[in-house]
Amino acid sequence: MSATPHDTLHQYLNEIRRQVDEELERLLPGAQEYPPSIHQAMRHSVFAGGKRLRPILCLEGGRLFDGDENCLLKLGCALELIHTYSLIHDDLPALDNDDLRRGKPTCHKAFGEATAILAGDALLTLAFEVMSERSESPERRLRVIHEIAYAIGAGPGRVSGQMLDLETAGKDADGWNVYLIHTWKTGAFIRAAVLCGALDAGATEDDLAVLGVFGAKSGLAFQIADDVLDVTSTREQMGKSVGKDDQQHKATYPAVYGVDESRRIAERLVKEASEALEPLGERARRLREIAHFLIERTH
Ligand code: IPE
Ligand code: IPE
Ligand code: MG
Ligand code: MG
Ligand code: MG
Repeated sequence: MSATPHDTLHQYLNEIRRQVDEELERLLPGAQEYPPSIHQAMRHSVFAGGKRLRPILCLEGGRLFDGDENCLLKLGCALELIHTYSLIHDDLPALDNDDLRRGKPTCHKAFGEATAILAGDALLTLAFEVMSERSESPERRLRVIHEIAYAIGAGPGRVSGQMLDLETAGKDADGWNVYLIHTWKTGAFIRAAVLCGALDAGATEDDLAVLGVFGAKSGLAFQIADDVLDVTSTREQMGKSVGKDDQQHKATYPAVYGVDESRRIAERLVKEASEALEPLGERARRLREIAHFLIERTH
């Protein structure tokens, strides 16, 4: 069964998650493959129960333009592998030093630091293998790979954002600092997820421009919501540590603007993101709903 336009958002997201999990199961080597420690560590983190938001955004971006479901699903899974790598490394003692992720011990807690570093490397590398093997046009495939690589690297993308996140901790941060950190460490990849789904499906340059604005704004809003939840939620609900940003004096939206104003900024960004989809009309309804979900989520 595949998701239909008549499902509630909740059913729709769950159906995509089920498809993503099945495909990830096909893509990842079995837990007993040699050497088992690396494969067990990769699987531990991938199958710990993430929300699969980047695959969801990618699929939805592609469905808008009637993209090939199988190609989009593989691309979405590649994004989830990259995302999971980034979480494993983000949790390492040298970065955020966390012991819980997706409700389970972090990869380095379960398997040791060296294996966790390698598991992250392996997931990142596997993602590029998967992206390069998909069967749509070679030109589009190459452009998708380029967009993704750009969004997660240092020039500017996830790695630079993570660098600034670490270097700004403990210093007086202002609105510009947090905007830049969040846009790079999280927003760029979320933007790339929705954009690449559409790109893969053959969207026009005008459509891609629209989705780029939508993705950047909703991606930034998503990280602001994560900062807010770090202040307002519980470890049980989140399946990861809370209160750590304040403890580590991280540059976050609540630290700069307070919780209430941060919520307002996130809401405004999602409104702007939804408005940016205007040229796509009613068929972008799901994408608008998903953008709202990004900030209304409780974990
Ligand atoms: C957590 O992302 C890391 C951030 C960029 C805030 P998610 O909240 O999407 O984490 P999972 O994938 O559901 O675990
Ligand atoms: C985002 O920031 C992490 C990545 C970009 C990988 P956080 O450090 O706030 O994410 P969580 O809260 O640990 O999930
Ligand atoms: Mg971090
Ligand atoms: Mg972290
Ligand atoms: Mg956080």
